[in-house]
Amino acid sequence: MLGILGKRKTTPVLGLDISSTTVKLLELSYSGDRYRVESYAVSSLPQDAVIEKNVNDIDGVANAVRSVIAQSRSKLKTAAAAVAGSSVITKIIDMPEGLSDDDMETQLTLEADQYIPYPLDEVAIDFEVQGPSPDREGQVEVLLAACRRETIDSRVESIEGAELTAKIMDVEAYAMERAYTLVQSQLGLDDSATVAVVDIGATMTTLSVLNNGQTIYTREQLFGGKQLTDEIMRRYGLPMEEAGLAKKQGGLPDDYEPEVLEPFKDAVVQQVARSLQFFFSSSQYNDVDYIVLAGGVASMEGLPELVQEKLGTPAAVANPFAEMTISSRVNAVALSSDAPAMMIACGLAMRSFD
Ligand SMILES: Nc1ncnc2c1ncn2[C@@H]1O[C@H](COP(=O)(O)OP(=O)(O)OP(=O)(O)O)[C@@H](O)[C@H]1O
Ligand SMILES: [Mg+2]
Repeated sequence: MLGILGKRKTTPVLGLDISSTTVKLLELSYSGDRYRVESYAVSSLPQDAVIEKNVNDIDGVANAVRSVIAQSRSKLKTAAAAVAGSSVITKIIDMPEGLSDDDMETQLTLEADQYIPYPLDEVAIDFEVQGPSPDREGQVEVLLAACRRETIDSRVESIEGAELTAKIMDVEAYAMERAYTLVQSQLGLDDSATVAVVDIGATMTTLSVLNNGQTIYTREQLFGGKQLTDEIMRRYGLPMEEAGLAKKQGGLPDDYEPEVLEPFKDAVVQQVARSLQFFFSSSQYNDVDYIVLAGGVASMEGLPELVQEKLGTPAAVANPFAEMTISSRVNAVALSSDAPAMMIACGLAMRSFD
């Protein structure tokens, strides 16, 4: 069984975020109370290699993994990767206390088909004892997680195709939760704050709401920076690569700002508002204390200010590296501009120190 919650004790691992458009690698070390970035690299994926968080072209992804390893010059041979939260079904169930791991697994496997809408031989199951059951004497609460084997296997094969061992298969939401602990202290937020972390990537926007160090809500929506790239390609007749560069470096005609960029930023704000609305309508919350913007799109100038102004909630951009030291072999300028997009990779690399 592959640990999709992965509670096993580990040695140093590379964090590998396999997203829809890129593979991101991060290696951290920890000493004297501080993290240090040992290596970092990002490589683009061929189009459609990953579709809506599912690996579609194993060789294409393996090549990108090989490329990040080569660029980063990391010596590590084991990696932690993650599946999307939407690929995982989780349930909290009560079980008798004092069962051995093996007995627990046997019993859970017997019961799991009540909770999981796929044939059991097609899913990987993992579990983690949370603590005594608040309602039932002699029982413990167990977090059960299940994911289609296919979803895990295609990621593992892409990683192993690049001569790495896929040691940990985590869930993106848990990686985000771990990386958020770094940001929380920087922003001076205490544990009781309810914080929305909005990761706006190339194709997906993922809202995680955190409270007391735990994710209390998560939801993915199809929205991301690719929409802006597509509009630039269409309007100015540029190939994808150039459109992507122009977005970051400028040099587009005068009508770009008022007619393309500003409307896109407004669309981002609306997307954040809509994601929050979904959360409010499915919970007893009607407010969050803080909005943290992550993902590549969060690097757009003026975005947190706009979100704060339009939604009336304080907002900031996530920088997981703000309090870390950086190895001299790492390109610190590139790392700093990619920082908000590195949250998942960072949360995965932090699995080295569990
Ligand atoms: N400085 C910037 N200004 C504007 N857009 C940017 C900037 N930097 C990155 N982006 C955009 O952010 C997106 C990539 O973000 P990210 O790396 O978080 O996505 P991803 O993780 O690959 O995608 P997903 O999470 O959707 O699978 C791209 O659309 C890219 O053009
Ligand atoms: Mg992403």
